[in-house]
Amino acid sequence: MKWSSALLGLAGLASTVSAASSVRRSVHRDHETNDYYVLHLNPETSPDQVALHLGLVHEGQLGELDDHHVFSSDKTEHDVVKRELSEHKRRKRDLSGVTGSSALDGVLFAQKQVLRKPWEKRVVPQRNPTSPALQVRADATAAKPEVVAKLNQVANTLGIKDPIFKEQWHLINTLFPGHDVNVTGLWLEGITGQNTTVAIVDDGLDMYSDDLKPNYYAKGSYDFNDKGPEPRPKLSDDKHGTRCAGEISAAKNDVCGVGVAYDSKIAGLRILSKAISDADEAVALNYDFDNNLIYSCSWGPPDDGRSMDAPGIIIRRAMLNAVQKGRKGLGSIYVFASGNGAAQEDNCNFDGYTNSIYSITVGAIDYQGNHPYYSEKCSASLVVTYSSGGGEAIHTTDVGTNACYNGHGGTSAAAPLAAGIFALALQVRPDLTWRDMQYLVMLTAVPVNTDDPGWQKTSIGKYYSHTFAYGKVDSYGLVEMAKTWKNVKPQARYYSPWVHVHQAIPQGDVGLAVSVEITEDMLDEANFERIEHVTVTMNVEHTRRGDISVDLISPDNVVSHLSVTRKNDNIAAGYEDWTFMSVVHWGEFGVGKWTLVVKDTIVNEHSGNLTDFHLKLWGECIDASKATLLPMPKETDDDDHDITSTTTLQASTTTLAPGGPATDTSVAAHPSDHPDRPVKPTAKPTSATTSTNSQGASPAKPTSGSGGSETEHETAPSATSSHTSWLPAFMANMSTKKQIWVYGALGAIIAFCLGLGIYLYLARRKRLRNNSRDNYEFELLDEEEGEALNGGGGGGLGSHSEKGLGGRKGRRKATRGRELYDAFADGSEDEDEDDMEGESSGSGSHGVRRFSLSLDEDDEDDSYDEVDADRRRTYHDKSAEHLPTTTTTANTNSTRRQVVDEDEAQHHVIGDDSDDSEDEDGDTQPSRNARLL
Ligand SMILES: *[C@@H]1O[C@H](CO)[C@@H](O)[C@H](O)[C@H]1NC(C)=O
Ligand SMILES: *[C@@H]1O[C@H](CO)[C@@H](O)[C@H](O)[C@H]1NC(C)=O
Ligand SMILES: *[C@@H]1O[C@H](CO)[C@@H](O)[C@H](O)[C@H]1NC(C)=O
Repeated sequence: MKWSSALLGLAGLASTVSAASSVRRSVHRDHETNDYYVLHLNPETSPDQVALHLGLVHEGQLGELDDHHVFSSDKTEHDVVKRELSEHKRRKRDLSGVTGSSALDGVLFAQKQVLRKPWEKRVVPQRNPTSPALQVRADATAAKPEVVAKLNQVANTLGIKDPIFKEQWHLINTLFPGHDVNVTGLWLEGITGQNTTVAIVDDGLDMYSDDLKPNYYAKGSYDFNDKGPEPRPKLSDDKHGTRCAGEISAAKNDVCGVGVAYDSKIAGLRILSKAISDADEAVALNYDFDNNLIYSCSWGPPDDGRSMDAPGIIIRRAMLNAVQKGRKGLGSIYVFASGNGAAQEDNCNFDGYTNSIYSITVGAIDYQGNHPYYSEKCSASLVVTYSSGGGEAIHTTDVGTNACYNGHGGTSAAAPLAAGIFALALQVRPDLTWRDMQYLVMLTAVPVNTDDPGWQKTSIGKYYSHTFAYGKVDSYGLVEMAKTWKNVKPQARYYSPWVHVHQAIPQGDVGLAVSVEITEDMLDEANFERIEHVTVTMNVEHTRRGDISVDLISPDNVVSHLSVTRKNDNIAAGYEDWTFMSVVHWGEFGVGKWTLVVKDTIVNEHSGNLTDFHLKLWGECIDASKATLLPMPKETDDDDHDITSTTTLQASTTTLAPGGPATDTSVAAHPSDHPDRPVKPTAKPTSATTSTNSQGASPAKPTSGSGGSETEHETAPSATSSHTSWLPAFMANMSTKKQIWVYGALGAIIAFCLGLGIYLYLARRKRLRNNSRDNYEFELLDEEEGEALNGGGGGGLGSHSEKGLGGRKGRRKATRGRELYDAFADGSEDEDEDDMEGESSGSGSHGVRRFSLSLDEDDEDDSYDEVDADRRRTYHDKSAEHLPTTTTTANTNSTRRQVVDEDEAQHHVIGDDSDDSEDEDGDTQPSRNARLL
């Protein structure tokens, strides 16, 4: 205490020095004259005390984020907080821990705010900028009389007199009947968006437009670029947000057209018109989050096919905060445009907003239902809806008192349309959670262009295409299902341990495949019932990022193309702790072998290695009473790779001779040297693995997508026969071979497990001892991490592609963190988390996996019944099939769980061409793996 009072004195001096600056205290940040810092404090730590110690002005809490505070100082070059905290640490170290407590001990995280370039709007890319505005075709003579009659009838019945309503083909398409959002039936029922508010996070919203004024919601609006309550457009280019707003909430009056939810309220949050800090964006994404129900976001990292960017840590916390607390706890609905970079081979899994599990990612189709050349695809995309393409575009409100626009487009126009439709569902069912909304969207999406070869049938009988996601939004179908929807249980999660691979990725059509076995026990322990999202966080070292592609194959043989090659992506880096996401496995049970296939398809001088990865399953829990909230993300979350690095399992190439036992082969076989021949098997006694895989020479021919202009490295539409047809054969061809190898592998695994298990157990005990240190956030504040603090943290968003370039910075950080921690006497109060430990208690006794999806329904109207005791069914009884694997982990107890999980990792290089007729499919087609790869 003596020490802290001495500090207080010092701080008092400092604060008098900065007393003048307190005059400037204001909720409106002024980056011209001030610097701003976001500090995450212990709940017990007083922000005013911290401000005193650091000589800063406490500006208040950061938006809705508890325990996060904004502090300001006069503008200086350096990071005064970092310096102070380092100094503080040094003093503590010098005193060898014989110190009292200081308010600075309560600083868990600090980040100086830097202004970065705003994100890019998802405006439709101009292919020919000199061409005149897109032609209005809705009044063409080709209009279908019966649809025109319907349009007139709807207009008359509802009293719609808006002059361009008849041009708004996305509401009623008179030229191509059926190619619209099918909303008018809802309007006739009085479902028009009442009692709902959508916030347009964009470049402004012209609330003085006569079309938007009646629905404008001032309390939920703010201008974060020019600091003020009105989000009015100010730059000549600030038209995007207003056009998006019109699609949702243009009033039924005599101006332009109507919004899809024309009685909804509309708010504007202006963030795209000037450089902005992470802090301001975080506040915007939580702004009035009890009343702004949906955030419509038509922006993100550049669509240049090179960028790979994710929101910074503060923004990620804000988004998690919103799904946990927004809408009074039901969760804010984030809607993001998938991106317009498809022609550049961009993919929405390289964008940390669209591939967040908290956002609904929306792609585009044109007025004939085709894929427009620009609309990005990815396994994180949930749905598509109408936008520009094929010579038409979206007709909506424009900036001005009475101005309309007929050329709105890009995925920018698709996302707000979807957001407006989701608002209709919220009018009917205001109690839907953010996850309920995703279920409804997924279940009621209607496949389009079903001739496209990209469709595959998923485990629950839905169809998924990476181009068209689950299909297009059908407003009527969505709201109808919403009316009787039973809320899903809380979210659960299962994390696999890091799987250490450290293998070269062979170039060419072969791939490096690594499998992880997940058992029913593991999921039961995690209180995990069924999958919604799957994420894979991974590290790849490479000299050209655009060469890499990654597929994830589930136990049900459903395939996610997590990553694709990108012609423009010449960055000399791989992936660093990048998280890919998939919604393709929605409804799957999750038990069995998950295989990650990493390829370097482009044969050139560039090559790389797969370092490690981490699989996470997100879904519905088994027992709602045991569900736990996900802790806030931290920058150190992925720093646990190295903790078990000494236990790295050897990946190995393997072959399975027809009918023969699994044979391990050495990874050193350099499969890329002879891509057309089987890898030569060599005994590798220490290998943990065994596996299957056969395959081979089947090249991954780029399949051209429906859009025509884009060619994608669509790694051979593996997903089994269901890929090329709508045959339900998919279920039948599961796993006969898998069983063989599983049994065959068992002996080897068990033997290895015993040895390795003991070793890992010891390693884990050691890790546990160090655990709190690893979570300690102070390492960020160390001198050496200065760049990380300013650039990698606050500026990470602006400096595109930085994520991939950082080398092993993260690892070093973790190490530094431990060292620094060692300088402290007492433990950090940091929010500690060990989800697996936390969740694994007491839920391991669920013998039979309950599953309530209707598996026998092949039509598009799959109804999704809530778990219902008497209708429970075992999920296609696969659990039995996977039971053998549980014997390898039967000894699993909660303390040794991670160790055992680790042993489940199985690796193999896919590189031989043994035409394996014993493929699991057991059919006459080329082996599954061959087609896969
Ligand atoms: C569209 O809405 C109508 C009711 O207005 C409904 O009968 C129909 O099933 C919906 N879906 C499709 C694809 O037409
Ligand atoms: C809007 O909310 C109010 C108050 O909760 C409720 O009385 C009213 O029925 C709602 N209107 C609609 C159309 O849902
Ligand atoms: C891959 O690993 C090898 C062997 O450790 C190493 O020589 C090579 O530099 C690595 N490649 C990259 C791109 O880091």
